[in-house]
Amino acid sequence: MSGVAPVKLTQSLRSTRVSRLGIVACRAGFCSSAIARSAGGFPSSVSSQKQKTFLPPYAPVGVAAARAASPSSPATPTLFEKEFSLSDRVALVSGANRGLGLEMSMALVEAGARVVYCLDLPQTPGDEFEKVKRHVRYFLPVAAEALWKVGESIGNKEGRMDVCICAAGIVKPGHDCLDYPAQMFNDVMDVDVNGVLYTAQAAGRQMARFGNGGSIILIASISGSITNMHQKVISYNTSKSAVLQMGRSMACELAPKHIRVNTLSPGYIYTALTAAFIDSQPGLREEWSSQNPQNRLGRPDELRGVVTWLASDASTYCTGSDIIVDGGHRAW
Ligand SMILES: NC(=O)c1ccc[n+]([C@@H]2O[C@H](COP(=O)([O-])OP(=O)(O)OC[C@H]3O[C@@H](n4cnc5c(N)ncnc54)[C@H](O)[C@@H]3O)[C@@H](O)[C@H]2O)c1
Repeated sequence: MSGVAPVKLTQSLRSTRVSRLGIVACRAGFCSSAIARSAGGFPSSVSSQKQKTFLPPYAPVGVAAARAASPSSPATPTLFEKEFSLSDRVALVSGANRGLGLEMSMALVEAGARVVYCLDLPQTPGDEFEKVKRHVRYFLPVAAEALWKVGESIGNKEGRMDVCICAAGIVKPGHDCLDYPAQMFNDVMDVDVNGVLYTAQAAGRQMARFGNGGSIILIASISGSITNMHQKVISYNTSKSAVLQMGRSMACELAPKHIRVNTLSPGYIYTALTAAFIDSQPGLREEWSSQNPQNRLGRPDELRGVVTWLASDASTYCTGSDIIVDGGHRAW
């Protein structure tokens, strides 16, 4: 991952966003001192246990807000304006020049992120990224540095780090497991395991530094927990399995810092990565599609919702989990 070049996406309608920032700037992260009160909606049996829970600054929400409301001070909906909103959040996404990383970056921007830093290998963004420019702005890459330094420089500039998506990944198929070349195995591990850790470290260190908590999303795959039928990809499957355990391990270590770590395991999604197989092997689209009950491949945009949920306050009790989005592939 040493050749990573950061690119920066921001909201295209920044002036609109700025006016909203004044209202929401204080709401990112959690108030570690906030303790749920019985008035916040907990049954007395629970509150009597003096159970502590960390509440966002805009609490109460939902039923608790309705109970606390009065005719002169009615409850207002918060689900999309608050819980799912990423207003003022700063994000780092690897593998974001195209494919899932780019789609996820755009989702974060649409959800209100102040800025999304997109890391990828090319010094200049590719066609796919350029087209997204109609909806978002980007800044030309700065000089490539080690990933930790990239994270640190973002922290220095933005004064916070809230979301990290590790989406960079490669696949090197075509060899039996017994003959899989050692160097090729190392190459895949280097990007799909080591690079994921380094990216998560780059962002996680900044989340710890600023003390606002954060959400790290490691892009794994169903290949981490099942073997893709008729595919000889021992390195990829092994790497994704490592990512699943990396997520659980990081989640447990980082929970005291209010940093959540989850993995997202997509099934077959049509991107340049999978197109390299599908478009060159007649019948493969149908074969892969037939392996899930929906009988189709997924689209990158079908991961927008889950990523926004994982990145936002809407998922604050979710950590150490693997979220599977596969059209039902693993249900069969
Ligand atoms: N497409 C799918 O069906 C699918 C399914 C499950 C999981 N995934 C995972 O999702 C992630 C994204 O996949 P995609 O389909 O968008 O692939 P993609 O090939 O379209 O995008 C991957 C991006 O990662 C970048 N990248 C590769 N090595 C890098 C490195 N060393 N440093 C920085 N960037 C690097 C590539 O340049 C590319 O832009 C991968 O981790 C992949 O394993 C994809």
